[in-house]
Amino acid sequence: MNNDSFWDFYWETRLQYLQGQGKGEVIEKASQLIRTANQPFRILEAGCGEGQIIGSLVEAHGSPGGEQASIGIDRDLTALANAGKNYPSIRFLAGDFTDTDLLQSLGQFDLLLLVNALHHVFSDVYDLSQGEIDVPKGKANLLTSFTNLSQTVKPGGYVILFDGLEVNASPDTPIQIQFQTPEAMEKFQTFAREYLPFRIQYQQESERIITLSSRDFTRYATKIIFLGKPLWERERQESYQYFNESEMRGMLTQNGFDIKEFRLLSVDYDHWLQEVSILTPGVDFPPEHVLITAQKSG
Ligand SMILES: C[S@@+](CC[C@H](N)C(=O)[O-])C[C@H]1O[C@@H](n2cnc3c(N)ncnc32)[C@H](O)[C@@H]1O
Repeated sequence: MNNDSFWDFYWETRLQYLQGQGKGEVIEKASQLIRTANQPFRILEAGCGEGQIIGSLVEAHGSPGGEQASIGIDRDLTALANAGKNYPSIRFLAGDFTDTDLLQSLGQFDLLLLVNALHHVFSDVYDLSQGEIDVPKGKANLLTSFTNLSQTVKPGGYVILFDGLEVNASPDTPIQIQFQTPEAMEKFQTFAREYLPFRIQYQQESERIITLSSRDFTRYATKIIFLGKPLWERERQESYQYFNESEMRGMLTQNGFDIKEFRLLSVDYDHWLQEVSILTPGVDFPPEHVLITAQKSG
């Protein structure tokens, strides 16, 4: 078995327990980078949650200069307590990854992981008087946070960013969809009623057919897997979409990163087909997530 086949097998067995949402893709990508460099990486994961991503990578590839060189930051103390228990060789810090002083105190890293984390900065700018996210302020905060986070990456180091993606062209284009079952229709109605970041508009065409904008369809598609589950209570408050492809690319290049890979993903395609079919000819489900690997100029 050659080296790559060994790692393919290793990750196939290790990642079985990780569900959807791209965690496995991020881990395999980061593992490839570490193997190519042929030395352990000092990793920072901002918004690390229970530490499964950074934890799996340090378990597999070690840490440079001994224990606790790699760091996970999160503001959720319960998640961090579990992370610390499961991965004692990583330093987990309770804090806010938008805090410049905190970031400056950490030194520099070979790899920065931002996995389903940046959209929180955008979602945090909910404006009560508008009843929606304040989009210009959310985008500005996000750019500032990314600039601060990117200072933690060494010249020649990498960032891997996985998150939602706003539709590229013509977000107002109408799409007609049909729900497969009455339950699927009810779940959509719950989504439209309870999704906090933006007001969802749609037109009822018949019992199970509606028309909505491709922007709102993308918002719905990214939340389908959480509808009817306990996680919905948290997920209803977050918008995964903030930047479209050219805004994402701009954020990276303006901060001195060379984009090595920009991969569009539909992480829950099979699940969507069980809930809904698209009636508008020539339209498919959106590639609503993005996995970006970029290297900081040296
Ligand atoms: C969806 S979870 C992703 C966790 C992990 N990256 C993964 O994919 O398994 C996002 C995490 O980011 C954390 N988070 C969001 N905004 C944060 C902030 N400003 N500072 C620190 N943590 C934050 C949340 O508490 C949550 O644990």
